[in-house]
Amino acid sequence: AHQWRGVITEYADRLPDHLRERVVTLGEGGTPLVPAPELSRRTGADVHVKVEGMNPTGSFKDRGMTAAISAAAGRGARAVVCASTGNTSASAAAYATRAGMTCAVLVPDGKIAMGKLSQAVAHGARLLQVDGNFDDCLVAARKLAEAYPVELVNSVNPDRIEGQKTAAFEIVDVLGDAPDIHCLPVGNAGNITAYWKGFREYAGLGGGAGLPAAATRTPQMWGFQAAGAAPIVKGHPVDEPETIATAIRIGNPASWQQALDARDASGGVIESVSDEQILAAHRILSAEVGVFVEPASAAGVAGLLARAEQGLVPAGARVVVTVTGHGLKDPQWALRLPDGGDVVPTRVSADVVSIADALGLD
Ligand code: F0G
Repeated sequence: AHQWRGVITEYADRLPDHLRERVVTLGEGGTPLVPAPELSRRTGADVHVKVEGMNPTGSFKDRGMTAAISAAAGRGARAVVCASTGNTSASAAAYATRAGMTCAVLVPDGKIAMGKLSQAVAHGARLLQVDGNFDDCLVAARKLAEAYPVELVNSVNPDRIEGQKTAAFEIVDVLGDAPDIHCLPVGNAGNITAYWKGFREYAGLGGGAGLPAAATRTPQMWGFQAAGAAPIVKGHPVDEPETIATAIRIGNPASWQQALDARDASGGVIESVSDEQILAAHRILSAEVGVFVEPASAAGVAGLLARAEQGLVPAGARVVVTVTGHGLKDPQWALRLPDGGDVVPTRVSADVVSIADALGLD
């Protein structure tokens, strides 16, 4: 039987040759595009979610990391470094291990979800908790890679964008054309950059020379930042970004200009959503759609619902929302009630009558 071979091999004709000198893969990509009838009902659109938590390390970062680590391995690199709010470090650590490389990760002190921290440690990364936020970590990682024999695998590395653009290809391949609207969370803005590149190339615009177009159009790109970490929306960097969605707690995105380009060229928007809206969307995704995500991943759904409430989602529009990371990365939010209280499991003795009783069966 055919097994999905990872994005570098599956999309070989659409990716640069240098990625194939030494392919380092964990079988990333090929993630489910799941119809979301509950979101369709709430918005009047035809909504699908692209479940990127199904990648090998539980986030979309694996698409970019297979490319960045393969390219580094092809050049004979021995060590890589990244700054991360967690998912990039988990992914870099896993792919570096696979390639036999050393991986250093710089994470903001105390602001990274336990699941992600565990992954980086489990995969043998040299983990440094930096006294500063993500933006400080990224500045330091860039300087380290300039001055020492270590390659930078953050999304400012163009190979990362090449790998991540394959998610747009998969969506078009499944739907038969680009959606009308594509929603996603925005942090450092690498992913919106990558999706826009992928959608454009599949529509025969820039890149992919000589290949037939696979789509007749490009979608509007709708990006959403957390309100306490919304530099692109505000138009200036945020010195002390704050949000419960730690993955997108970023005040000075590296791909800021590319995000603006994607927004403007696509006729889209970049807006902000509050932590309350993010947590409400997180609950809807778990309890109604059946997809468990980490909080940052719910920002795209939160933004879509907010715009639908304002009457800004055209009836019947085909909408894809990328949910970027798995709920098990940062599971504590499921155990918190909307009023801030904790979920307390009901205790019962081990007899069937008490259990039936507790379940309200008679
Ligand atoms: N969603 C999740 C789950 C993320 O981990 C990130 C970024 C984003 C969305 C935003 O994507 O940065 O390309 O705009 N996480 C990075 C990290 C910063 O270090 O793992 P972006």
